[in-house]
Amino acid sequence: MNTDILKASDLKDPEIRRMIKNRIKNDELVVFPTETVYGIGANALSETAVKKIFTVKGRPSDNPLIVHLSNKDDVFKYVKNVSSHALKLMDAFWPGPLTLVFESNGLFSSVVTGGLNTVGIRVPSNLVARDIISLSEVPICAPSANISGKPSSTLFAHVKDDFDGLVSTIIDGGGVEIGLESTVLDMSVSVPTILRPGKVTQAMIEAVLNIKIDNQSDRELNESPKSPGMKYKHYAPKGVVTLVEGERAKVINYINSQGLKHPNKKTACLCPDEFKKDLKLETVIQLGSMDKLETIGENLFKSLRLMDELEIDYIYIPAISYEGLGEAIMNRLIKAANHNIIKV
Ligand code: TXA
Ligand code: MG
Repeated sequence: MNTDILKASDLKDPEIRRMIKNRIKNDELVVFPTETVYGIGANALSETAVKKIFTVKGRPSDNPLIVHLSNKDDVFKYVKNVSSHALKLMDAFWPGPLTLVFESNGLFSSVVTGGLNTVGIRVPSNLVARDIISLSEVPICAPSANISGKPSSTLFAHVKDDFDGLVSTIIDGGGVEIGLESTVLDMSVSVPTILRPGKVTQAMIEAVLNIKIDNQSDRELNESPKSPGMKYKHYAPKGVVTLVEGERAKVINYINSQGLKHPNKKTACLCPDEFKKDLKLETVIQLGSMDKLETIGENLFKSLRLMDELEIDYIYIPAISYEGLGEAIMNRLIKAANHNIIKV
């Protein structure tokens, strides 16, 4: 398939807008940037279109998709009930990186919801994403634009690597802002429950609702996770990833000693800036300062992808604090490491 690569500025052209609208209407896939990560979009009301997403990504069919809307009020068209808590969160965080899970009214097919009676919905803040949704005049389901199992895409180059030739259109929006996928919050249960941590943290949600909420994202190894996406291998580079937890000096010692253990292999460390000067591995990639977790979040997925580009065999990553955005970062790192965590 020929893939058209467009710039965000091309969306000013009425011809191009008509073309994209037609492509969505004809069940084709369009990749576009959002503020969190790139998404691979299709008409959420067409089963044929939605099925294409699963095929192209190689995504397990029981993993539901997030429906993206350009307008908050459209949520009432697709869900059974919007609680007062949900309304407060929509006011506080939409448009933005928060997905709310509601009881579905049945308008979306079970291909979208992975057979659940709920549906995850978000209104992105990225203007290109919003423009694509509103010009399409249909809700757009858009999982992260990566082949299943790979790190989500935060750069145009990465979506091009994964999807050139597989989708009708890719919109080049440069690098994304946040770099971590949206927080997923289940509102269909009596106490709102975080299923995936993200930029909108538990503390931020509790401050708006004035109640304690639940957090299931740290219990995702249990038998039947509420968010089906949580049980699959994720974000994994080809090399062996080890997360190293402990006092900084000990972590550095451990990583330096591991470097010597694999003389004929490529080893690398992905680390906060503060670790760099004492590390003796050949490849040390800085993620940003621990004082600015936003930068670490933004750099995380592209650095994981870089490990494959550099064909690294062993990847060591110091664990960081779970405070604030640290929870979302550690959640992705634990999955990238396939739970391979060493305490020193
Ligand atoms: O930031 C994001 O959310 C990005 C951008 C493109 O918007 N999208 C994204 O989609 O990360 P995806 O498909 O890669 O991740 C969706 C997550 C999965 O873990 C899925 O299991 C969960 O949301 N999810 C979706 N609908 C759900 C539902 N009804 N109940 C529970 N979990 C749900
Ligand atoms: Mg994903």
